[in-house]
Amino acid sequence: MSKKLRIGVLASGGGTNLQSIIDRCQDDSLDAEIAVVICNNPGAGALERAAQAGIANRCINHRDFSSRGDFDTAVVSALQESGVELVVLAGFMRIITQTFIDAFPDRVINIHPALLPSFPGLHVQQQAIDYGARFSGCTVHFVDGGVDTGPILIQAVVPVLQDDTAETLAARILEQEHRIYPRAIQLIAENRVHINGRQVSIDPACPASRSAIVNPALED
Ligand code: GAR
Repeated sequence: MSKKLRIGVLASGGGTNLQSIIDRCQDDSLDAEIAVVICNNPGAGALERAAQAGIANRCINHRDFSSRGDFDTAVVSALQESGVELVVLAGFMRIITQTFIDAFPDRVINIHPALLPSFPGLHVQQQAIDYGARFSGCTVHFVDGGVDTGPILIQAVVPVLQDDTAETLAARILEQEHRIYPRAIQLIAENRVHINGRQVSIDPACPASRSAIVNPALED
């Protein structure tokens, strides 16, 4: 069996994305092992999920550090101690510094609950509704020095429905997050992902869906 990719997952909240990665590791559809789960928030459900699955986990509370840089240095050390090869931000609500990116060049990925480059930042489901967007979705991207700006690896699209609230839209998006994040990690584990400027290529290429979706639907 080929060597599994050692990943470190950083999370701040409930950890459903973490859970989808745990599940895919456990059913062997993901050639990765979670070396460590790190949360910046002692109440994060993700810590509980990691413990339940027997995965090493620790809380590094950002409030214990006087600067973003010092916090990042502590997180980077913990990831390096665990032999992490890929850092997976899964609902990690802290902006990471250049120190972090330099320690793991092209090796930090994030999932964002919108179709980037539309709606970077926070509260993005409400922003998509307020803007009147007909589609939203989720994006897995490499992390660079900006906020939600790095090269895009995979996206899924969902419709925004007329009666959506931020919560119903978030749930529809989350369902797709749980599908595309493990897929993105698997592509990296297979060494198929190459970054060239803003473009990310996958080699060999994955088949792409060529049909368009329209919302509201066209009349038959
Ligand atoms: C997910 O929707 C993720 O895309 C989002 O937080 C949620 C975490 O859910 N991340 C961000 O907004 C990052 N800026 P989870 O804890 O259940 O995985």
